[in-house]
Amino acid sequence: MRFPLLLVVTCLLGTTLTLDNGLMRTPPMGWLAWERFRCDIDCKDDPQNCISENLFRDMADRLSEDGWRELGYVYVNIDDCWSSMNRDEHGRLQADPMRFPGGIKKLAGYMHDRGLKLGIYGDMGTHTCGGYPGTPLDKIEIDAETFAEWEVDMFKYDGCYSNATEKEKGYPLMSKALNATGRQIGYSCSWPAYQGGLPPKVNYAMLGEICNLWRNYVDIQDSWGSVLAIVDWFFGNQDVLIPAAGPGRWNDPDMLIVGDFGLSLDQSRSQMALWAIMAAPLFMSNDLRTISSSARNILQNKMVIIINQDPLGIQGRRILQEKSKIEVFWRPLSNNNSALVFFSRRTDMPYRYQTSLGKLNYTMGSYRITDAFTYKTLTLKDTTNFVVSVNPTGVVMWFTAWMMVVKASMARPAPLPRTWWIFWAAGLTAAEYR
Ligand SMILES: *[C@@H]1O[C@H](CO)[C@@H](O)[C@H](O)[C@H]1NC(C)=O
Ligand SMILES: *[C@@H]1O[C@H](CO)[C@@H](O)[C@H](O)[C@H]1NC(C)=O
Ligand SMILES: *[C@@H]1O[C@H](CO)[C@@H](O)[C@H](O)[C@H]1NC(C)=O
Ligand SMILES: *[C@@H]1O[C@H](CO)[C@@H](O)[C@H](O)[C@H]1NC(C)=O
Repeated sequence: MRFPLLLVVTCLLGTTLTLDNGLMRTPPMGWLAWERFRCDIDCKDDPQNCISENLFRDMADRLSEDGWRELGYVYVNIDDCWSSMNRDEHGRLQADPMRFPGGIKKLAGYMHDRGLKLGIYGDMGTHTCGGYPGTPLDKIEIDAETFAEWEVDMFKYDGCYSNATEKEKGYPLMSKALNATGRQIGYSCSWPAYQGGLPPKVNYAMLGEICNLWRNYVDIQDSWGSVLAIVDWFFGNQDVLIPAAGPGRWNDPDMLIVGDFGLSLDQSRSQMALWAIMAAPLFMSNDLRTISSSARNILQNKMVIIINQDPLGIQGRRILQEKSKIEVFWRPLSNNNSALVFFSRRTDMPYRYQTSLGKLNYTMGSYRITDAFTYKTLTLKDTTNFVVSVNPTGVVMWFTAWMMVVKASMARPAPLPRTWWIFWAAGLTAAEYR
């Protein structure tokens, strides 16, 4: 099948229903505490890193002052271990009074004052995974109302300490309860991750009608092995997962660990590039107060973010696994553009991979290529053989524009940066690019 045809077919099939809260038409972006800060509640001896309102305020300050918010990183998400061990006298959840003395509503206000959003966490069972009070079936309504009253913007519903029957009732019930509050609250469901992530145990058509995003698979850890296991699972099951995704409904391969300890620079680019191909939510879990400039450059790469945030919202796929251990990934984008990733699973040296766009099933014609990490450009015919040099565990990522876009853009006035037309093609102005 030639790709533009594939695109049309995908669009025609895209008649599935979506959770009707108007949120997350492109994958949500922001910061989430769990992978980096876990359940560190030791504010006495580790005040900088413990789960407390200070940590979330610190991250909000960084997001709003260091150029993250403007790129779309707007959610600041609390994970487990935020609450008091006891509900209040009205049976409502309450934040730990020592670590969140101002309360969650005030923290949400802090986010809103800075153009950010606050996310919070709960669990479908008797307890959260960390042993804090859960939100079982009989607490769903009161907790949804509490979150809305606190002006929270997103809710992640975990699945520890509940069985499959309870989950089947609880996840849709919470969706209804959130809707009934009248507040727009993005809804992240961990449900499929507890059911093995695949049909027939997981009904993705139904999930898309009740959740904005869902964790399909295991938690990410701070290691390359963990990233690879996730990549293997998601692309190994791509034929099931791709149709599940679309505007307002996303597969979630879990947090970005770029900026932490486990990934090299090449591996960090690989995670960012492959998450963009997957149309994955981009929740960083790192320390934005101390992040290196090289990690920041990767996470703030505008072209990769544009690819991730493409309005068509079509999840990309792995199209080739070569004997040379080079893999090729492709994602169709709006305006007849597309993204390509060449990924090396080799462990020896940069590999010179030779192919042509025609061999990758691009239709006849000329294409304007921009390398997402070097911003170098070139023009290729479908028949032109080219070589990309891919580092071990690294990627080369291309934004591929159909030539007619370039011709149309020639009519626009100069002077502009050499690659400005891509941003025009993606619906942005050149000023935004600079
Ligand atoms: C290109 O299309 C052919 C024919 O449908 C198919 O067999 C082949 O796997 C495709 N190649 C790629 C790289 O998608
Ligand atoms: C609740 O659901 C209805 C019907 O699907 C929808 O029109 C409305 O916008 C939803 N409200 C919120 C706050 O999500
Ligand atoms: C699930 O838990 C409920 C109690 O909440 C229990 O009544 C039910 O039998 C359990 N179902 C299974 C399949 O274990
Ligand atoms: C995409 O390509 C098709 C032909 O392959 C063309 O008819 C259509 O106008 C193009 N769309 C855009 C937005 O350039």
